[in-house]
Amino acid sequence: MADSSRHPFLQGLSKHRGAPPTAVVIFGASGDLTKRKLIPAVYNLAADNLLPPDFHLIGYGRKEIAHEAFRELAAEAIKEFSRRELSDDVWDRIAERTTYVAGGYDDPEAFKRLAAHLEEIEKKVGRDVQPLFYISTPPSVFAPILEGLGSCGLARKHLDTAHHAKVIIEKPFGRDLESARELNRTIRGVFEEHQVYRIDHYLGKETVQDLLVQRFANAIFEPLWNRNYIDNVQITVAEEVGVGTRGGYYEQSGALRDMIQNHTMQLLALTAMEPPVSLDAEAIRDEKVKLLRAIQPLDVKPGGDVVRAQYGEGMMGGKPVPGYLQEEGIAPDSATETYAGIRLSINNWRWQGVPFYLRSGKRMARRVTEIAVQFKRPPGTLFAGGGFDVAANTLSFQIQPDEGLSMILNGKVPGLETRMQPVKMNFRYSTTFGSNTPEAYERLVLDAMIGDGTLFIRGDEAETSWKLYTPVLEAWHGSRSGMDTYAAGSWGPSNADAMLAAQKHIWR
Ligand code: NDP
Ligand code: BG6
Repeated sequence: MADSSRHPFLQGLSKHRGAPPTAVVIFGASGDLTKRKLIPAVYNLAADNLLPPDFHLIGYGRKEIAHEAFRELAAEAIKEFSRRELSDDVWDRIAERTTYVAGGYDDPEAFKRLAAHLEEIEKKVGRDVQPLFYISTPPSVFAPILEGLGSCGLARKHLDTAHHAKVIIEKPFGRDLESARELNRTIRGVFEEHQVYRIDHYLGKETVQDLLVQRFANAIFEPLWNRNYIDNVQITVAEEVGVGTRGGYYEQSGALRDMIQNHTMQLLALTAMEPPVSLDAEAIRDEKVKLLRAIQPLDVKPGGDVVRAQYGEGMMGGKPVPGYLQEEGIAPDSATETYAGIRLSINNWRWQGVPFYLRSGKRMARRVTEIAVQFKRPPGTLFAGGGFDVAANTLSFQIQPDEGLSMILNGKVPGLETRMQPVKMNFRYSTTFGSNTPEAYERLVLDAMIGDGTLFIRGDEAETSWKLYTPVLEAWHGSRSGMDTYAAGSWGPSNADAMLAAQKHIWR
């Protein structure tokens, strides 16, 4: 049997996992993501004994914060946002190795101070410590931070060893093809690709990883997983929340950039890619890129492959909520979409002729992320003429909430007459495994520490996805032409229904 612990790049989704001594350096350490997700993730890894013995956490940012004050902020963040209560036993282990370095994101002297701080830590522990840089700042300073890490030599620290420097880069990874290419060029000028971990937190979700297991560890699906048996695939990433206080960010983004180009496309790639030759990171990412390349350019004309809309006023949980254009920080004539619906065609042997429908929106009826694979109906001969409505079998991966898998079959209603109705076979994570599942960021921070890039985006993958969507963004840019509206609390605009109806489909 292959020893997957031999080489960090060969670990894939392997079972045996241990990280070398690591110092996680968070750039943007006073920010929202650090507080809500990153610090709680580190804490939960510590509680699960998954952190290496010589683990250090270093916050970095422009604000002057004393070490002790940063520890207090971190403890508060754990109390408020961790899935576990703060326990002194666990926290004390991390707190004594938690420090803060103040400095600008483009200040060479500050980067030198950071390098000296890391060296001091190594001296204290008496061994090499792998630096893991987590860039959790607004994207405007991604490039200066990368360049700073390059010029002070930290990017190449321990480069020829297994505990070389690594960098995690938050989303958004560019805002179109050209900016993603530019960011990749900056990264490549400083880091080698195997040191780079581009985050898409959807890949850290348990059920998203389960997709691979369901598809490739069960022999019953693969023979049916193609155009001969599948009629269409629908991927829904619906949110109940509106734009909230993030108007400034969202106005520059919109549903296509914020959700479709990254999270939804990752779900698509894992659903539709060919079986990889192994579970190692490159094998899986190669298959994802191959799949993305097979997607046909989108028809952006009205009635084509893309629809967009903004939520209007509506009722959520029995209360009235404002429309997007009335939200704080939103221009009254904003051309930013809060909903995007896409019809994709994949031009390969497996999928030709099978439409893939993607939709994502804010202020929709219910928070649900789901992949629904709808099979072709059986030939009508046997039950034809009896007035039977034979439902299409549908396999649906419930990514969140209420994580699980369900299958719709046709069953006979008990009784002396032959009547049938669709019945549902359900598997629920919570009933089978309990509900204390690790959060996405726990998995991703641990994987990066270990050096496992399977659940991260490769540079070419990001570019391929942007290549598909950049013409759409260009066609939409600054104009409200074709912008539909949907009531907050509904399932989206009528033009999205019409896009499916044109091929005799309806949203599930
Ligand atoms: P914040 O706006 O909270 O910024 C993080 C930190 O960066 C701030 O505390 C500040 O620290 C510094 N900063 C803020 N604005 C600027 C600026 N204009 N120039 C330089 N530095 C600045 O960001 P988030 O924590 O919300 O997000 C961080 C990253 O994570 C972003 O790329 C975001 O897209 C991504 N992300 C965030 C999510 C979230 O839920 N928050 C979800 C998914 C991704 P200081 O002043 O001390 O330097
Ligand atoms: C983020 C988007 O990437 O994902 C947000 O920027 C969105 O707009 C969030 O709300 C959804 O993530 P999750 O894990 O709550 O489905």
